[in-house]
Amino acid sequence: MSDKPTTTSSAATPAEKKSVKQAEKPWNGRFTEPTDAFVEAFTASVTFDQRMYQQDIDGSIAHAKMLAHVGVLTHAERDQIIVGLGDIQKTIEAGEFNWSIALEDVHMNIEAALTDLIGITGKKLHTGRSRNDQVATDIRLYLRDEVDHILIAIKRLQIALIDLAEQEADTIMPGFTHLQTAQPVTFGHHMLAWFENLERDRQRFIDCRKRINIMPLGAAALAGTTYPIDREFTARELGFDSVCKNSLDAVSDRDFAIELTANAALLMTHLSRFSEELVLWASAQFNFVELSDSFCTGSSIMPQKKNPDVPELVRGKTGRVNGHLISLLTLMKGQPLAYNKDNQEDKEPLFDTVDTLKGSLKVYADMMQHVTVNKESMREAAIRGFSTATDLADYLVRAGVPFRDAHEVVGKAVRLGVDTKRDLAEISLAELQQFSTDIQADVFDVLTLEGSVSARNHIGGTAPKQVRAAVKRARVRIA
Ligand code: ARG
Repeated sequence: MSDKPTTTSSAATPAEKKSVKQAEKPWNGRFTEPTDAFVEAFTASVTFDQRMYQQDIDGSIAHAKMLAHVGVLTHAERDQIIVGLGDIQKTIEAGEFNWSIALEDVHMNIEAALTDLIGITGKKLHTGRSRNDQVATDIRLYLRDEVDHILIAIKRLQIALIDLAEQEADTIMPGFTHLQTAQPVTFGHHMLAWFENLERDRQRFIDCRKRINIMPLGAAALAGTTYPIDREFTARELGFDSVCKNSLDAVSDRDFAIELTANAALLMTHLSRFSEELVLWASAQFNFVELSDSFCTGSSIMPQKKNPDVPELVRGKTGRVNGHLISLLTLMKGQPLAYNKDNQEDKEPLFDTVDTLKGSLKVYADMMQHVTVNKESMREAAIRGFSTATDLADYLVRAGVPFRDAHEVVGKAVRLGVDTKRDLAEISLAELQQFSTDIQADVFDVLTLEGSVSARNHIGGTAPKQVRAAVKRARVRIA
């Protein structure tokens, strides 16, 4: 949820009725009848878009400066506007701003308050601009800031994973395919796999920020404006990299919002998969890890339970972010150029995407800093699952046996182990030699878990030495 001030309910308070009367609708000149009360509430966005008040004020200040720069406003008018907007910002931050449904959105609320405050000069602010380029600018400014927060949050989780990988570089666990024990891997290597997922996510956010940070202002309603505006000036004031190159596109493009949500959906999908592992690993059956009590809850009825709520909830929240992506794509798919009111529906999915993502990243980083790794359980599981079977096959291949034949020999040895409830390393040399005379006493070097992981000693491999090297590189990559 936003920590920004909340709105009044849709039923107008007496104070609100008063302010509505004072601040007439901008289109009153054209209309003879007032807006239907239900339609007024139905079409309003101020209950949620007030979250962008800071961006709206920043955008207005930059616009006023530009208008004064090109001579459309006097410097005195500009300064009056800047002071007025500053006062409004303070009122909002004090929770004392009277948000009015009748004034529809954050833009008209602030503009009306400015006119209330400074009089006629307030009405000049909207020269050479429209709410269409204004709202597009506000969302871009808002998302640009949020991307920066998201990037920091991703890094924080990445650091928690790198630290854990370094600490557990030698810890052996079973690696899985089909959730069946496959080959031993190091726990550090497994953590770094999730680091790589997050690194791709981070790069995607860095990349989409470039397309967010382009300024629509100046497009006005759709066609541009007749005033001698200086768009580059405004862009510089607001820290935009450049200006949108086509006015129709500027007011109607929401690609950047869809892109950000797609990136968020993919990141959440990664966290969801990771969560699935943590839920399994924290179970009594796996017992690979223990999550700190402060990240779990108990059961009101079953005293033995410690539930992994945090990973479960993150897994669950992935659904809503994926849903928001579909909402935004569907919102756009039928829109002709240029701006349509449909676009007002972009905000709630976007805001919730940002909140959900930031919350999930934060709780994940905190949780991963407090994970207890049960080395013994993981080791036992790796042994039980014949995880060094491939190593035996590779041993035979090195002795000159074709891989397919080696595969069969090992299959027989595994069968004997299953039947007699023994690990491969517990089967005697004489018994192994019944399956292949190429097996010698040195076979036991490769049948150990340590031998197995250390042998995978190349970039991207699971050997502890490689994990430590990858940890070093990872720290540099995100520095
Ligand atoms: N509240 C609107 C939105 O979120 C602002 C732009 C409205 N423009 C208009 N011409 N009705 O998109």
